[in-house]
Amino acid sequence: MKKLLVLTGGGDCPGLNAVIRGIVKAASQTDEWKVYGSIEAFNGVINEPNEIVRLTNKKIQGIHVKGGTILKTTNKGNPLEFPIKKKDGTWGTKNISKDLVKKIKKLGFDAVINIGGDGSQKISQALYEKGLNIVGVPKTIDNDLSATDVTFGFSTAVQIATDSFDKLVTTAESHHRVMIMEVMGRDAGWIALHTAIAGGAELCLIPEIPFDLKVILKKIKKRYKKGKGFVNIVIAEGAMEKGGESSGEQATDVGDAHKKLAGIGNYLRTRLEEMGCPAQIRTTTLGHIQRGGTPIAFDRILASSMGVKAFELVAEKQFGKMVAYQNYGLTQVTLEEAVATYNHVNLDHYLIKTARSLGISFGD
Ligand code: F6P
Repeated sequence: MKKLLVLTGGGDCPGLNAVIRGIVKAASQTDEWKVYGSIEAFNGVINEPNEIVRLTNKKIQGIHVKGGTILKTTNKGNPLEFPIKKKDGTWGTKNISKDLVKKIKKLGFDAVINIGGDGSQKISQALYEKGLNIVGVPKTIDNDLSATDVTFGFSTAVQIATDSFDKLVTTAESHHRVMIMEVMGRDAGWIALHTAIAGGAELCLIPEIPFDLKVILKKIKKRYKKGKGFVNIVIAEGAMEKGGESSGEQATDVGDAHKKLAGIGNYLRTRLEEMGCPAQIRTTTLGHIQRGGTPIAFDRILASSMGVKAFELVAEKQFGKMVAYQNYGLTQVTLEEAVATYNHVNLDHYLIKTARSLGISFGD
């Protein structure tokens, strides 16, 4: 029997378990492969003793409905910049990819499926170049991978954000308030854009379109011109003022270079208050609520089929590839292509035009 290792890396995302289940179920039809999972991305292989679990049909029963990942995950297990404690007690990073590939082979694994976002697939590509038989599955709620039309987890995040937005609309209306809802979207404003259209926002602020506070205030004032109005704003965590920068704290954890984004919603509230906003303002930050819980049906289906496709690529020895959803079907792209360009919201995208025609302002 051949041995396949599966792992989940980076931030979690609704649908990860459905991918794992898809892989295990597809592999079990062949009687040729045994599937294993590495706990916390590659850490399960790197750590001594190893944390590697056998993934049987029993183990994955019913998990497609559950959020999170049964294999756990981490932002701090990048083998290209692995955190190492130095002799003087301080921490540094080291590229351990060559040793990792050796170890995976020594453990008898014939292939690896890495389920993860942009960062994880860059790791997949580096390990592939070092001789590892690896296949990628794209994952991110931000929908910021360009090789795939959509990623699983994104639609669930949009649904969660839209449900929350709808709740904020009714309270905004009762109190004649301005409600600011901050959603995820580090460098891409897809969640904010979709939620603004689905919910009917007055303003949508995204990283790709830096905003002008004066334009926002003008739009708000217009809504209050004929008396007591209300305004609902969706803002992506990575949005920024014209000439400004994204709001958050620089990462301090070794091995996790991600800036912790948060606070742009509150910044917007404070600035609008200072500038004489005609109504009370409240801010809600959805944060990790968008990443948790049950995936919606679309994401379960997409994730399950991506798991099945990933196993198919392994069985066909199509290594160095990533599964991609394009034109309502599944295909594969090279890992190199997969990480080459970032999926920003294109300003000519039909949803930008739709939003503008619906009267949604981007604050520009
Ligand atoms: O990349 C997905 C994402 O949800 C971003 O939108 C967000 O900035 C980030 O993860 C937060 O991740 P964590 O809190 O796990 O560092």
